[in-house]
Amino acid sequence: MNTNRLSANVEKALSDQMNKEIHASHIFLSYGIWADDKGYQGIANFLYRHAQEERNHSIKFMEYILNRGGKPKVGVIPAPPADPKTLTDCFKGVFKHEVDNTTAIYKIVDLSMAEKDWATWNFMQWFVQEQIEEETLAHNLIDKLKIAGGDRATDESLFTLDKTLQEAPNDVPLAQEATGNNP
Ligand code: FEO
Repeated sequence: MNTNRLSANVEKALSDQMNKEIHASHIFLSYGIWADDKGYQGIANFLYRHAQEERNHSIKFMEYILNRGGKPKVGVIPAPPADPKTLTDCFKGVFKHEVDNTTAIYKIVDLSMAEKDWATWNFMQWFVQEQIEEETLAHNLIDKLKIAGGDRATDESLFTLDKTLQEAPNDVPLAQEATGNNP
């Protein structure tokens, strides 16, 4: 008896998205490392937190596929893009990657609708909502940097921006709080 409640197409689309979320996680991790190296520890932590959220999204896809009787497949994760050149570049990159991800999420919503797979359609609504929040977060970053003076911002205003992001609430533990027992 076939207990897989996902069609082959939907299963593959969800599995690909599981991998895409890890790719997004790696992109934000690499941006975070870039910011950390430049001395922007608050911005780096913000990006590390975001990388962790993307990983959580990947696990959400993994669990859903398994719960529906499918088997997710971990694939090759492409390397993250080159380091940003400036903070504006970095924040625009964050926004662009969120929009790319939204496009991929909408494709799965379309597919689930075409196949009348209402369970998957319903599952995907969480991600539709999440992407609204993440895109808002990303363009707020661009706005904050613009107010600080963009690429011509003074060291003092960048210091304040960095500090603000360091103090932003955590949905996930900060990198600095990780320990061997609580990685
Ligand atoms: Fe998992 Fe930023 O979307």
